[in-house]
Amino acid sequence: MNEKRIKVELKDKSYEIILRQNIISKTGDYIKKLGAGKKILIVTQDKIPKIYINKVIKNLRKTGYKTYVNSLPSGESYKSLSSLLKILNTAIKNKFERNDSLLALGGGVISDLTGFAASIYLRGINFVCIPTTLLGMVDAAIGGKTAINIKEGKNLIGTFYQPRLVLIDPACLKTLSKKEFLVGMGEVIKYALLEKTGKKVFRNKGFFMYLKNTKNKILELDPATLSKIIEHSVSVKAFIVSKDEKESNLRAILNLGHTFGHGIEQAYNYKKYTHGEAVSIGTCLACKLGNDLKLFSEKDTNLAISLISDFGLPTKLTNLKLLSKITEAMLHDKKIKDGKLRFIIPTNNIGSVKIISGVTINNIIKIFKQHHSGKN
Ligand code: GLY
Repeated sequence: MNEKRIKVELKDKSYEIILRQNIISKTGDYIKKLGAGKKILIVTQDKIPKIYINKVIKNLRKTGYKTYVNSLPSGESYKSLSSLLKILNTAIKNKFERNDSLLALGGGVISDLTGFAASIYLRGINFVCIPTTLLGMVDAAIGGKTAINIKEGKNLIGTFYQPRLVLIDPACLKTLSKKEFLVGMGEVIKYALLEKTGKKVFRNKGFFMYLKNTKNKILELDPATLSKIIEHSVSVKAFIVSKDEKESNLRAILNLGHTFGHGIEQAYNYKKYTHGEAVSIGTCLACKLGNDLKLFSEKDTNLAISLISDFGLPTKLTNLKLLSKITEAMLHDKKIKDGKLRFIIPTNNIGSVKIISGVTINNIIKIFKQHHSGKN
């Protein structure tokens, strides 16, 4: 596979996302081109296969870098203040300077946390991301959203801080569990529903149909197919972030399915549904809402829902027992503007979305009930 380069265009903060099989064995060669300092702190998680960490370290040392490692236990609960302090302390103890780097090697927890540490250490130090999960590759590692969780809520403390480089190695997906892989597929399907926003790579409904037609190859982790879906997803996200880094308008469309999804995740204490599962159910509800508002046809609603279910992602909750908890959580979402619920909904044909506000909570309850009583 040839190397693919996708640029996030943000003037002096512009950076490249480089996609290539086995790129992690060349980490140092790529970082060298940034002119970064000689010290690199790798932040990773115990569950990341040692072989990946060793490949990164080996090449960094070969290319003249001094490496340090902070490996955290696995889980969202480690995206915490104490992990943040651990990273900062390692950097302080080893006298890291501004031109030295923090390197996130892992999934979204690691990139969010490391990016946050990088943004506040000495008011900003080099940050490099090597995502090892599909969710990290197509979403979390790109776009500079950093955060930690506090007991009052997820991602409540954070910054916008762009990495200087993102290296994506699709070969890392081989060791991902099916469940984690599908979390990322939930986001890939999201890009298919807003594909007309990006620079055109596929024609009319093209990415959507590509996912439908290559489902088996994707689930078998065929390298060429995976690289193609990652490249396309990344190019849609890079385009959107380049236009609206701080989510003043356009970037909000990346939250398709997320207002419903966050409500579901929170009502079930982040235990019953993964992020990808909750967002998948949320996307189905967003399609139904679009249909109810006569902005999205029934045919396209059914097509979108069937793609989600083709990948084995849930399209519905198992029951509506926690409906009032879900709607309560939706009303406290941090993306609420002027106290009004905002939704991203698919519109026209597949591939376009629209931001709408002013939907009442009674309307939302009606959509939940209709969706869960229908056959889809
Ligand atoms: N994950 C949504 C965003 O980066 O804006």
